[in-house]
Amino acid sequence: MPRYREDDSALAALIEPDQVHRDVYLDQEVFDLEMERLWRRTWVYAGHTSQVPNAGDYLTVDIAGEPLVMVRESNGGVRVLKNRCAHKGAKLVSAREGNTGKFFRCPYHAWTFKTDGKLLAIPQKNGYEGTRLKECPSGQGLHAVANVATYRGFVFVRLSDDGPTFEEYFGDSLSSIDNMADRSPEGELEIAGGCLRYMHNCNWKMFVENLNDTMHPMVAHESSAGTAKKLWEGKPADEPKPMAIEQFVPFVSDYAFFDGMGVRVFENGHSYTGVNFSIHSSYSAQPEYEQKLIDAMGEEKAKSVLGTARHNTVYYPSLTIKGAIQAIRVVRPIAANKTLIESWTFRLKGAPDALLQRTLTYSRLINSPMSVVGHDDLHAYRGIQEGLEASGNDWVSLHRDYRAGEEDHRDQTVNGTSEISMRNQFRAWARYMTPQGTK
Ligand code: FES
Ligand SMILES: [Fe+2]
Repeated sequence: MPRYREDDSALAALIEPDQVHRDVYLDQEVFDLEMERLWRRTWVYAGHTSQVPNAGDYLTVDIAGEPLVMVRESNGGVRVLKNRCAHKGAKLVSAREGNTGKFFRCPYHAWTFKTDGKLLAIPQKNGYEGTRLKECPSGQGLHAVANVATYRGFVFVRLSDDGPTFEEYFGDSLSSIDNMADRSPEGELEIAGGCLRYMHNCNWKMFVENLNDTMHPMVAHESSAGTAKKLWEGKPADEPKPMAIEQFVPFVSDYAFFDGMGVRVFENGHSYTGVNFSIHSSYSAQPEYEQKLIDAMGEEKAKSVLGTARHNTVYYPSLTIKGAIQAIRVVRPIAANKTLIESWTFRLKGAPDALLQRTLTYSRLINSPMSVVGHDDLHAYRGIQEGLEASGNDWVSLHRDYRAGEEDHRDQTVNGTSEISMRNQFRAWARYMTPQGTK
């Protein structure tokens, strides 16, 4: 029985300033509406241009239930097409990535299309003479996504014709992407290696909320990062820390540390923790790299770039990045209770290999399917998804450090353990999901 599709007020009633109804995580109809109203109308991350360096290179991605293919054209541009043959709808490419050469060739009846989507040829074309094909949508070739924006190599799409411009949508939050790219002596990033991809048995919002949830690490990661900390206890202060210890231990910093980090929220659900410092601030120095950066941009700028060590930045709803460690996680919702998370690492062009080593180690230790830290979170998400099925309390509390009127400030920085980032996400959610919410 559809409840929310026909009843905007029921949907709006799911979100209060300081709590949300459990249906936002559990209800499949709400999920379907999210895909239509939020994921199609906002700017969602598709991929990075470095994944398609040469003409004909492509990668496939599903966004809001639509199969897409991002391709490098021969003129050097990047285009995003619907991965749907103009003839009878077959997927043109089924591999995750590859090179299609100068054109796509459908595996079903061999219609071919240029990389800009235009119809190139049809076998036995005289059979179409005198038909309406040319005037029909199928005669136009592949459907291209009209709203595509690339920012420092990050490619975003907005599937719906209506919605904010890219700049309006992200605003000053783009400074986190800048910080990650600026860390390259050449100012450019490239995806390094493959993707660590794993399924989460939870609603996508639990993952996104967790990225700026600083009240959980010292609790949920006590068994993993806490064990690493104990292992290292008692070592002389000047003993060089193994990279794993250096990366694990800050996760179990105390409440005061995470509170002091600070959190900044922006309009449209974006936010980052680590305004003042973060768990990435005390990694050992890399003198060779730092010198390269100074040579490339001058001492002052290099200091400012390296001194900005944000924790997690959320580009709501699809992308979360760690500029200081050059790792990103991408959110691909599957169903109300299923979310695919992709974890990618970047190489800073022109930086010594030690930087990539640090990034790869971090991804393996923290963000991979084999990570003990990542599994603490995974366990929590599944627990929430199952626990919320219990009746008796329909609400999820987001009260921590709520101050009436905070919703009036579009860009604000507060103490790091506030739950403001989650409330901020749900305010954006409500705006996109319901007409009432846009007021
Ligand atoms: S479905 Fe693609 S050529 Fe027929
Ligand atoms: Fe965590």
